[in-house]
Amino acid sequence: MAAAAARPLVGGLENHAKISPALAGTILVSELGCTACHATSRTTLLPKSGPDLSTAGARIRSEFLHRFIANPSASKPGTTMPDMLSHLPKVERDETASALAQYVASLGTKPMVFAKPTPDAIKRGKALYHSVGCVACHSPEQAVAGSVPLGPLAEKYSLASLTQFLEDPLAVRPGGRMPDMRLDHFEAVDIASYLLREQSLTTTFVPDAKLIERGKALFTQHNCHACHRVAGEEMATQQIRSLDRARLDRGCLSESRGAWPHFPFAAKQRVAIQSALTSDAAASPEQRIEIELTRFNCIACHRRGDYGGVAVGRDSFFTGVDENLGEQGRIPPPLTGVGAKLKRDWLRDVVVNGATARPYLHTRMPKFGAANTELLVALLKKSDPLPAAKIPHVRDARLARQTGRELAGSKGFNCVACHTFREKSSAPIRALDLATMSNRLEENWFHRYMTEPQRFSPLTIMPGFWPDGKSPLPDVLSGDAGLQRDALWRYLSEGPEAGEPRGLVLEPLVIAVADEAVMLRRNYPGIGKRGIGVGYPSGISLSFDAGQMRLASMWSGGFIEASGVWRGQGSGQARVLGRDTITFPEGPAFAVLESATTPWPTNTARQAEGFQFKGYTLEARQRPTFRYQFGALNIDDRFLDVKDASGNAHFERTVSFSSGSLPEGLHLRLAADRSIVARSARDFNVGKTMRLRLSSPGIIRETADGHELLFPVTQAVPITIEYRW
Ligand code: HEC
Ligand code: HEC
Ligand code: HEC
Ligand code: HEC
Ligand code: HEC
Repeated sequence: MAAAAARPLVGGLENHAKISPALAGTILVSELGCTACHATSRTTLLPKSGPDLSTAGARIRSEFLHRFIANPSASKPGTTMPDMLSHLPKVERDETASALAQYVASLGTKPMVFAKPTPDAIKRGKALYHSVGCVACHSPEQAVAGSVPLGPLAEKYSLASLTQFLEDPLAVRPGGRMPDMRLDHFEAVDIASYLLREQSLTTTFVPDAKLIERGKALFTQHNCHACHRVAGEEMATQQIRSLDRARLDRGCLSESRGAWPHFPFAAKQRVAIQSALTSDAAASPEQRIEIELTRFNCIACHRRGDYGGVAVGRDSFFTGVDENLGEQGRIPPPLTGVGAKLKRDWLRDVVVNGATARPYLHTRMPKFGAANTELLVALLKKSDPLPAAKIPHVRDARLARQTGRELAGSKGFNCVACHTFREKSSAPIRALDLATMSNRLEENWFHRYMTEPQRFSPLTIMPGFWPDGKSPLPDVLSGDAGLQRDALWRYLSEGPEAGEPRGLVLEPLVIAVADEAVMLRRNYPGIGKRGIGVGYPSGISLSFDAGQMRLASMWSGGFIEASGVWRGQGSGQARVLGRDTITFPEGPAFAVLESATTPWPTNTARQAEGFQFKGYTLEARQRPTFRYQFGALNIDDRFLDVKDASGNAHFERTVSFSSGSLPEGLHLRLAADRSIVARSARDFNVGKTMRLRLSSPGIIRETADGHELLFPVTQAVPITIEYRW
């Protein structure tokens, strides 16, 4: 392995060619965990922690553990984990690695289970991986130099363990260098499927109690505890010679091997570390910001002043939904002066929790966690000064707000021509929401920015409204530019409560269904926010209630109109576009009935008792199978749209049960209506228009206002139901 490829790779430094050697060295010392072992008097040298190994055995194949521990940079070139065993003779080294691997593989209780990724998931995962921001740091499929290595993932993880890691990387790697990309479970499955696409291995871990015991002792002896947490064990503290007094050509910084960690440094890295450790200058606040932004590789996505920003080979992967917005519609915003721009709470919420304001970017602002970024937030707030603007105030508060509203509307400056307002927009441009601005922005910054937006982003399409300080609206507040800005600010300060500005044009937003099913988890009539609508390729649709696990309605014709959902218009609900809508009764779909006359439970709570929604899996052409639990019983609920020879579409539903015992008296309620008539034991007319056919006999019961059709579940065999209407 050439030294250049094996050298420990720190993503941020690859993105910052201009950084001074001393700052680069400071960052290397933290990123390589030197001060996990060595004492230091410098506060900028906090070590990055290694992964938490408490459940490593449930996440990582034992075969990989052995190879990685024996020689980290050979199995994962570019890794920041040093070789701890380089001084041992080959045989002893192998034996030591084997015992350590046994010990680490014994941590965690769940055995690893392997499943093959599906082609559909791989395809979706590939698209996500290349659009949400992974390739800001890691390599796209067409390799780009200077990428944070992923190593041979297919030899390391199972689909389940990689999915779990991606859902919450900070749990395993609390250092936050691999940030939380805010993936939901299904996105994590898809990306993990893509990353493991060529996996053909399983694992054959056979625990050996004696080796585990020995490995545990070696783990302490070799100081693995300096960087790795293991639940129930103490982490080692700095016990080795202080870097303040160390000989900088010896030990870990030398080429020779000994009872210290070996890092396969490139010569330049060694020089940078030496320069950091010999320089006396304390870092200035601005340099400390530079260190933090580089350490966490914020600069892979953000520019600040004259450094950072998206690298050339990665630029094409930064995309957005709206070309009208230009560069601002696809590249994350610059961090130049961001401490003066954003209010502290919002700044913190963005960096700690990944709060967002730009739904039009495909790239995501990751979540870095509080522990890692509290310092950066404080530094940004403290050291990003902006001279105070002169802010005149409109004396009458009501007049100020009213005038601001006029100015924002189409008869004023027409902000709504480009900005959304409470997610409503007037096509075609959809820039940042006006109703969220006062929550995010500092008043002082707003005044400065509005006065001269080009000074903040030279290429912005945000216009300046007061050329040479003069207002084009001389009759509003005597044409005073400062007062007009104040009026706008005070109007915007009402946030989402502000009255709508004039000129929002609202067009219907019809969701079309082509040759794949379309699913929309939204607020549906009769269900509320737990609704999931699915439009199927054969022109029929359904809504499912993920609170009560019931089929809520079915219709044919168009799918839905969603402007109410996306723009907060009217009820905020999706509007069903179809005809012949069939609605099903409220209340849980399954219930345990004590006797044949026990009435069906009327519990219409949002989350019906005893049920737990487990999400859905997608099958051919994106058709979902809903998955939920009733008590200990796992239920899969699958709907297929079928077109018969005459071109009429109907649903075929299959409800199957697994892992868990059937409670006695379990029933599935299929319909309730004024009239339900049996054509045979398995064939029913419901109301005037629907016909249901079941795989085995159903029961009709009388209710207070009609009938209901029940299916007694006595065996854990799949039930099929055909719905025609
Ligand atoms: C796992 C613990 C550990 C880590 C991590 C570690 N070292 Fe060391 N280092 C040692 C040990 C052990 C020695 C040899 C014993 C001694 O010198 O006290 C040593 C020796 C040294 C020496 C020689 C000291 C002297 O005066 O002889 C230097 C310099 C040094 N390390 C620098 C570093 C740097 C820089 C890093 C990070 C890139 C680093 N070390 C990471 C454990 C560690
Ligand atoms: C800001 C840069 C950054 C972004 C964005 C990022 N990662 Fe990472 N990732 C890292 C770093 C750095 C590490 C190594 C962390 C460490 O050493 O603790 C890492 C580690 C990983 C690992 C673990 C590799 C191993 O050897 O176990 C996986 C898997 C991974 N990233 C996948 C992803 C995926 C998928 C995405 C997008 C959803 C993503 N990363 C986004 C920086 C990033
Ligand atoms: C100087 C800090 C440091 C020391 C000391 C250290 N490691 Fe690591 N270790 C790391 C880092 C950083 C990573 C993540 C590397 C990567 O993803 O490329 C890592 C990764 C690992 C992993 C993979 C974990 C995962 O979740 O992907 C294992 C296993 C491991 N180390 C075992 C050990 C053992 C055993 C020792 C002692 C012989 C040891 N480490 C000593 C820093 C350290
Ligand atoms: C993978 C790319 C990526 C990385 C890495 C990243 N960001 Fe972001 N960041 C974004 C995106 C995208 C946005 C826009 C989010 C939005 O407003 O919807 C953003 C927005 C922000 C904002 C809000 C700026 C504004 O004017 O509204 C701040 C502050 C910020 N990021 C800071 C950071 C810091 C600090 C780090 C590192 C600790 C970081 N970001 C790392 C992509 C990234
Ligand atoms: C021609 C389209 C257009 C019009 C008209 C317009 N803006 Fe903008 N505005 C934008 C775009 C695009 C951005 C994002 C610019 C960027 O990120 O550089 C923006 C950014 C802003 C910002 C900065 C927000 C942030 O968080 O970065 C504020 C504040 C703002 N506009 C307020 C207004 C107000 C108030 C009006 C009406 C007086 C208005 N804009 C009219 C296009 C417009």
